[in-house]
Amino acid sequence: MARHPEFTSLEASRPPFDAEHTWKYTQVPDIKWKVGSGANNDEWKNHKKVELNPYEEGRPAVNNYKTLISAITPRPIGFISSISKDGKRNLAPFSYFNMANHDPPIFTIGFSASGDQKKDSCNNVLETGELTINIISEWFVEAANYCAINSPPGVDEWKLSGLTPVESKLVKPPHVAESAFSIEAKLVAHHEWKSKTEPTKTTGFLVIVEGLTFHVREDVINEEKTQLDVSKLKPVSRLGGITYGRTIEGYEKPRPNYAVEVEKPEVKELKCYFQDRRKRERKCDTFGILLLPQVEYITMGSSQSNHRKHSAEEEHAKERRKLERKVSSQEAEDMGESLPTGFRGEGFDNGKPEQDQKKKK
Ligand SMILES: Cc1cc2nc3c(=O)[nH]c(=O)nc-3n(C[C@H](O)[C@H](O)[C@H](O)COP(=O)(O)O)c2cc1C
Repeated sequence: MARHPEFTSLEASRPPFDAEHTWKYTQVPDIKWKVGSGANNDEWKNHKKVELNPYEEGRPAVNNYKTLISAITPRPIGFISSISKDGKRNLAPFSYFNMANHDPPIFTIGFSASGDQKKDSCNNVLETGELTINIISEWFVEAANYCAINSPPGVDEWKLSGLTPVESKLVKPPHVAESAFSIEAKLVAHHEWKSKTEPTKTTGFLVIVEGLTFHVREDVINEEKTQLDVSKLKPVSRLGGITYGRTIEGYEKPRPNYAVEVEKPEVKELKCYFQDRRKRERKCDTFGILLLPQVEYITMGSSQSNHRKHSAEEEHAKERRKLERKVSSQEAEDMGESLPTGFRGEGFDNGKPEQDQKKKK
């Protein structure tokens, strides 16, 4: 029995695809949002969260599949072209897909497997180490979807879908002419996943691939060849079940810059820092910038190394350390306690915490 019976009549009951509804920018949901104020409405408070144990007695793995593909959304889709060892070409969409780095360009793809049964794309990538990844746009979504057909190895999805292969430069698998952005890639690493409940059973493969060169439609990228125009790319994403998502509306919001934000009275008021075990207070206004000498790190990033990446923040920390050095130890004494010539604070690791500790009086 079909998994989605009556689909044709169900779809016929829905409004037609609105090709006129194209990309536009709106404001963010709450343009008056204030630092520290959390969600932009309280509706979430009316609902309880329940724990979902993926290994609960009697819960089949397919339920976790349904949960996860409807929770981790929207997912980008990598349309993977590959060629088998004996030269048979293959094309299929995969939404366990994302980029993981840009220098070098690194992408991850998750192929499901059932015991010994691997997807053809997975076999091909593991055996030949080569593939192309193509971004799916609205103008060929039906054809791309058709390539998910559960055909036996050796059936040519290019022919079935009517899509057009273009010869690649550095790898054997062709890329998709209809796609506005294609990546030639090679395998870097892979990992085989085993079922938690049946540890001998293979359930999937993660492949990590490196992008070697890109092919982009010239009208979709800007003149500097740096950025694609979402209104022209019309990228399709994967939602739960068999649902695709359109990309037709968005809003912009600049990322907060810590060095700027921390000067604002409303941010200072939040005291968003962790104090160390000794919990000693220091009055550091003397330096003219916020000084929190006992701070281990700030909650605005995932880790200290994360902060290290932000040059504006590093500048701020450097500036602060320079100012610190100017303060005599007597002044520090006046503030209740002498300051070390360098200390850990405000989320920035000055690189020498132990040395600094030794310098403390
Ligand atoms: C939009 C979409 C996303 C998909 N994502 C995945 C995925 O991430 N992993 C996977 O194993 N299969 C995924 N599939 C299913 C494969 O495309 C399907 O099993 C296909 O037949 C595999 O082809 P192959 O055996 O020729 O490689 C997806 C299907 C669709 C339509």
